[in-house]
Amino acid sequence: MKKADIGLIGLAVMGENLVMNMESRGYSVCVYNRTTEKVTDFIEGRAKGKNIFGADSLEELVAGLSVPRKVMLMIKAGKPVDDYIDALIPLLSPGDIIIDGGNTHYPDTTRRTKYVESKGLLLIGTGVSGGEEGALKGPSIMPGGSKGAWEHVKPIFQSIAAKVEDGIACCDWVGSDGAGHYVKMIHNGIEYGDMQLICEAYFLMKEYLSLSADEMYEVFKSWNTGELDSYLIEITGNIFARKDDDGTPLVEKILDTAGQKGTGKWTSVASLDEGVPLTLISEAVYSRYLSAMKDKRVYASKVLAGPHPTGKFTGDKAAFIEDIRQALFASKIISYAQGFALMRATSEKYCWNLNYGDIAMLWRGGCIIRSSFLSNIKDAFDANPNLDNLLIDPYFCNAIAKAQDSWRRVCAAAITHGVAISAFSSALAYYDGYRTARLPANLLQAQRDYFGAHTYERVDKPRGEMYHTNWLET
Ligand code: 6PG
Repeated sequence: MKKADIGLIGLAVMGENLVMNMESRGYSVCVYNRTTEKVTDFIEGRAKGKNIFGADSLEELVAGLSVPRKVMLMIKAGKPVDDYIDALIPLLSPGDIIIDGGNTHYPDTTRRTKYVESKGLLLIGTGVSGGEEGALKGPSIMPGGSKGAWEHVKPIFQSIAAKVEDGIACCDWVGSDGAGHYVKMIHNGIEYGDMQLICEAYFLMKEYLSLSADEMYEVFKSWNTGELDSYLIEITGNIFARKDDDGTPLVEKILDTAGQKGTGKWTSVASLDEGVPLTLISEAVYSRYLSAMKDKRVYASKVLAGPHPTGKFTGDKAAFIEDIRQALFASKIISYAQGFALMRATSEKYCWNLNYGDIAMLWRGGCIIRSSFLSNIKDAFDANPNLDNLLIDPYFCNAIAKAQDSWRRVCAAAITHGVAISAFSSALAYYDGYRTARLPANLLQAQRDYFGAHTYERVDKPRGEMYHTNWLET
């Protein structure tokens, strides 16, 4: 019997859609699921008549694959991945490949790569972004792990991945160890930031400008034709257009408590570990936590004093909408500048040699943060691969210079009228801090030296020379 090109374990919607995508590109796939009825349902349902075969056991799955065997796990991240790896190792042969396509925390992938390689096998830990539709029609794929596995997996992955205008696949080798899952984690952190920025723009338009959902639909439609052109802007416009059964906007019927699965938090924690400011994404994570404290907020809304924005706007609405657009664009630049700076720090630490321009291209199509803006990032790193911070690139430097008056007006108005805009304002604070040659940390060092003799450097002496003052001495 002819052997399948690849095996896939885990027939939840992402797994099933990836299988359908692979088959549609001419690859035969053998599938297995812990609950084997799912296999039968799939084979007799969506997969009927296609080059997709079911297996009732891992042994049968492995026996049905061509060599080197490629087994892709599309299962819940965490212990189940370790369990399947342990179950597969005795069944596979040297050179065979295990692929983890879940949202795995990258240190787990680094650990598993070493472990799997010590057994003579290869591991790919890959980010897959784009949700259900992306999995079916073309996701963004971010593979890392055992480099030797890449040549065997590359044709399949690049053929199922999203393609951008020039036919380039949104899938390429990212780096060793957990680099692929790391880049997916940063993608998700940026996704959190982009979503929070859009939510703050919406909040200002709704509460301060009193725009209707239909008006916001028009605003987002027009925004999607310019610098902000992106998937998240597009779907947000569509959300405003959707009405509930009673004809009112569905979005206003949705409870304002955000969920999260934890990848944004991992990104923030990683920034703390590396000592790289990631203020915007972290504010986005905290904003989700704050939103989840619904009962406490409802109580506080009755007792805590402060201004309310409704009815306060007097002026040119169209001009302020343009200010919000500029504020969103400038803040988005900050978010990506911070995310790429964090990637650089981590890449240097682990010697991953990440190619930042290529990473921008991996995200150009298929994934949740896809946008035209990523081409500008690619251009910036093409022009200067050692670019330390995107803000220094001439395009982004000019873009912020152009946007900042609007950005400051938006933050000032929001603060004056009591609209919580933590991402817009923290982005601006980072920008002002980053462009300040002398910050007040001289005083902070004096305080540290005062109470703990932690010493300080002097502006009039070489770096590295440490001084201490006995501050109590008169
Ligand atoms: C993607 C998404 C996806 C993510 C979900 C939910 O790239 O397709 O990033 O991987 O897990 O969108 O994330 P939260 O539940 O944390 O919002």
